[in-house]
Amino acid sequence: MTEELNQSTASTDPSIVIEVSALKDELHRHNYLYYALDNPEIPDAEYDRLLRRLQELEAAHPHLLSTDSPSLKVGSAPLDAFTQVAHKMPMLSLDNAFSAEEMGEFNKRVIDRLNNSLNTSSSNTLSSNNSSVKKPVKESSAKFNSQSEAFEWLDYVCEPKLDGIAVSLIYEAGLLVLGVTRGDGSTGEDITANVRTVGSIPLKLKGDDFPAVLEVRGEIYMPKASFAKTNAIALDNGDKPFVNPRNAAAGSLRQLDSRITAKRSLEMCAYSVGIVEGLVEGVNFPQTHQKILLQLSQWGFRINSEMRLVAGIDACSEYYEQLSLKRDSLPYEIDGIVFKVNEIELQKILGFISRAPRWAIARKFPAQEEATQLLGIEFQVGRTGAITPVARLKPIFVGGVTVSNATLHNEDEVRRLDARVGDTVIVRRAGDVIPKIVSVILSRRPDATAPLIFPEFCPVCGSPIVQLPDEVVKRCSGGLICGAQVKEAIKHFASRKAMDIDGLGDKLVEQLVDEKLIRSVIDLYHLDLDALASLERMGKKSAKNLLAAIEMSKLTTLARFIYSLGIREVGEATARNLAQHFGGIDNIVKSDEESLVLINDIGPIVAHFIVDFISQDNNQRLISQLQEQGVNWPERNSQINNEADVSLPLTGKIYVISGSLYALTRDEAKEKLQALGATVTGSVSKKTDCLVAGPGAGSKLTKAQSLSVPVIDEEQLQVLLSEYLAES
Ligand code: IVH
Repeated sequence: MTEELNQSTASTDPSIVIEVSALKDELHRHNYLYYALDNPEIPDAEYDRLLRRLQELEAAHPHLLSTDSPSLKVGSAPLDAFTQVAHKMPMLSLDNAFSAEEMGEFNKRVIDRLNNSLNTSSSNTLSSNNSSVKKPVKESSAKFNSQSEAFEWLDYVCEPKLDGIAVSLIYEAGLLVLGVTRGDGSTGEDITANVRTVGSIPLKLKGDDFPAVLEVRGEIYMPKASFAKTNAIALDNGDKPFVNPRNAAAGSLRQLDSRITAKRSLEMCAYSVGIVEGLVEGVNFPQTHQKILLQLSQWGFRINSEMRLVAGIDACSEYYEQLSLKRDSLPYEIDGIVFKVNEIELQKILGFISRAPRWAIARKFPAQEEATQLLGIEFQVGRTGAITPVARLKPIFVGGVTVSNATLHNEDEVRRLDARVGDTVIVRRAGDVIPKIVSVILSRRPDATAPLIFPEFCPVCGSPIVQLPDEVVKRCSGGLICGAQVKEAIKHFASRKAMDIDGLGDKLVEQLVDEKLIRSVIDLYHLDLDALASLERMGKKSAKNLLAAIEMSKLTTLARFIYSLGIREVGEATARNLAQHFGGIDNIVKSDEESLVLINDIGPIVAHFIVDFISQDNNQRLISQLQEQGVNWPERNSQINNEADVSLPLTGKIYVISGSLYALTRDEAKEKLQALGATVTGSVSKKTDCLVAGPGAGSKLTKAQSLSVPVIDEEQLQVLLSEYLAES
């Protein structure tokens, strides 16, 4: 197409040719700022206007459409099939390690091999199969002990192992001419039209110091947010959602119609180079992996912002531990960390074994998905009557723990999965998220299975199960007649973030209800020592401790009290907003939907649930009875307007908490700061007024210091809290 452009421009108005060229340059620059640097300069709407103008001009003058046009990012006409393309340089895979020990073995293998190569080579050269290289010199980044003539440790580059699809991109004279999947490593599929639609893949390299032919390799992946959006759209259209972001990326890239790929918001992160031919005279190609990545970034690629150069294998383990903690908060899925020897000369000496390089290894995270057998399905009744189907599984080690139950969410989900007793299912447990079944392996379905039938009556109290219009969830209509709902309501009331009754765990609540010692939360305040002590596994001492804990819980905060009532959709944050706004429980009981929707974070649905709750006599009675039993909290002047909030000592101040605290949990510290009017956020910025930093505060501390944000430790926080709490 570029050829055509050159031939036919003569007949086109030169001002159009100039405008098209200027638009392309400008759009290339904004693509780079947006996709590679995450740092857009102009609003999306303005970008769209520039793109639309380019599309108009190209439509009117088709010969001006070139292979590097940013308009190709929206996709082009569908292909009939993908063409097979042989890789000039095979695309390798990586060896895996699953523990620090295996990482140590890898490091030893690498160092031993390098030292052996040294011993067997001539005095100042090392030979590998196809290269002869100088011994490392002083400025080498690997630690070479010149006395013992041996390597002691090496520099490694650490990078997240992105869970996507490997791709090879060929650039000739700086223009993207070919995009190929990894395939079997030797041959892949030509997906050029599709890769052109990926925002972070430059159609044209930046600068003028790139080689005549450059192959860039990297991973195309779907960020978690795009995955959620893609699946929401699929569900809306009645299509099958993707099981995970990796499958979604693969499915999106294997579209013959690249306009579909363009809609899927894929990203690409460059992690190495393949073929490099025709270097610009006087320009040396970088000789370490880290420098290659930085060079790729300058040519317009996105490289991973978590990439680090570290010294020695212990530092690799530290990096692994730190990134494991960060894994869930990353905007994309990773399944491990890749460690690569930094020096290209050393990589060459080490070479390859079968299909993997000796100079790199992937330390994998414990698998987050495993297959196991579905043994049965039970129906649990929640605090609000919601019926949740729960899968009983053959115990399986996944995501670092043994899982024997997984939620099936609701009837829609059960139908979508069509999971049947006896099926082999894939269970996913990522981070602290509750385990879920993601799919059924249909090829392993035994004969004579039956689709699940959702019950019509509550399995606990026998009341009819109902489904309100507009609700996905089905509920038991038994209310407080239902033993399950009673138990869940009491568990919630006693829980740590509600009334925080120490020692009253879920099992004990069940025992108390089953033994008919309590039927409602109010009964907790009438418990009898002897009756309690006579319970199985209880004893007098534990019974006394429990009664003391119940007594202690009476002094609480209004926010906790509201939260403990278990009003639907009223979580901790909403309870806090209600407490802050109304100041007292009487004002809340008197409120209506109109006044409630004026409060931060409360919309019509939540307002409706609140009014529904407070308008019921039995709930009003419960609130009074609890207060009569001595449940109390420090009253503030009632405040129906937000102006009163201004009077709190930390109103308008933004705090961030990072690292470990000892006397307080982070949640408690947050709650106390919020009670004094502060806003507690998760990240440090120029607007932050103070960072509370405990040991391990890490990058937030560095950022606070670089922005001159005041930093205090836990002790100083305690002083501050006690000063202000004494005041208020
Ligand atoms: S380097 C010769 N770096 O992992 C080295 N691979 O199991 C080749 N991957 O097919 C790969 N993130 O798709 C490398 N930062 C990263 C990676 C990465 C993900 C994938 C890649 C490759 C597979 C190897």
